[in-house]
Amino acid sequence: MKKIKLAVVPGDGIGVEVVPHALKVLDTVAEMHGGLSFEYEHFDYGCDYYLKHGDMMAADGMDRLRESDSVFLGAVGDASKVPDHISLWGLLLKIRREFELEINVRPAKVFKGIQSPLRNPKDFDLVVVRENSEGEYSSVGGRMYHGDNEIAIQNNVFSKRATKQAMVHAFKLAQSRRRHVTSATKSNGIFHSMPFWDEVFKETAAGYKDIDTVSQHIDALAATFVTHPERYDVIVASNLFGDVLTDIGAGIMGSIGIAPSANLNLNGRHPSMFEPVHGSAPDIVGKGVANPIGQIWTAKLLLDHHGEEEMGSLLLDTMEQVTADGFLTPDVGGDRQTDDVVDELIRRLKTKS
Ligand code: NAD
Ligand code: IPM
Ligand code: MN
Repeated sequence: MKKIKLAVVPGDGIGVEVVPHALKVLDTVAEMHGGLSFEYEHFDYGCDYYLKHGDMMAADGMDRLRESDSVFLGAVGDASKVPDHISLWGLLLKIRREFELEINVRPAKVFKGIQSPLRNPKDFDLVVVRENSEGEYSSVGGRMYHGDNEIAIQNNVFSKRATKQAMVHAFKLAQSRRRHVTSATKSNGIFHSMPFWDEVFKETAAGYKDIDTVSQHIDALAATFVTHPERYDVIVASNLFGDVLTDIGAGIMGSIGIAPSANLNLNGRHPSMFEPVHGSAPDIVGKGVANPIGQIWTAKLLLDHHGEEEMGSLLLDTMEQVTADGFLTPDVGGDRQTDDVVDELIRRLKTKS
């Protein structure tokens, strides 16, 4: 029996609501599979933990998480309790950094039964590969002076190693898809980083002659993401460009509540981490209406990562049948509760085993 050991960090807000649902779904999938099981270790790290202990996680927290095969995370952040820069650097970004999760893979596509806000969404199906460790998210910089003279300096950091690694990941992914990679750039700007990014892209592309490439300025790309998303296959982007682009990707699918992500460790030294694109959604917490699909699609990415692509596809296909039949939470125009959507998914999965 194959066992996958998951460190489960529901975190804050709706993370605490959607994660248990996704675990139920994973258990159902494992039961159907017969040869697969999940072992969960739960961690109550988050803003409430901070209020009790003065830190977002235990002192040995990273070591405990490292004992897992993967980390399954909900969302982090509740600014009514802890300032975001403390909660995020203390948990989410800490895990991304210390586990060297240098690649963030974020798919977006027309999801059956979910109305895209686009007039003509065609059948877009794309993946953003986001460099996840540096770029605009560097810790280099600071604040100085006071009052009206205060200034804030943020240095972007682009290493050739991490930049190339993200690009190689995008090219390899494109080889299993429609063989097209778009580089999100801004080399018409006055930055040092983006001409460098372009050079590394060109150099990387030379090793993948079977892949068509295009470089597009991020501002124009953001517009075309909305007007013609079907033109894209794989997009490689820096950390902040990728962050914004993937919320646009979520938006054109119909809701940020359905978008998934995989934060990948490529050097094998630490577990990878799986979390939806959305945050803790303080405005809907406790109402039972959080869309569970972001967390459930994230579970699909986790299954894929552990070599269970067949189960992953079955899970997502069944999810799309459920939405196609009108089981929709309010963010995507329905009136169903989170429970209704998940119960229906589990019921249908069980009929397939
Ligand atoms: P958010 O994603 O939490 O919410 C944005 C909007 O989308 C809200 O109106 C919310 O109700 C809605 N929404 C999000 N997920 C939904 C779901 N599953 N179903 C239905 N509606 C959903 O973004 P925000 O408001 O910018 O941030 C709130 C908090 O979450 C902040 O503390 C922020 O830093 C944090 N955050 C964390 C993560 C993460 O942990 N990966 C990601 C983004 C934001
Ligand atoms: C995301 C989030 C995070 C990011 C925040 C919460 C730090 O927006 O996962 O997309 O900017 O990466
Ligand atoms: Mn984001």
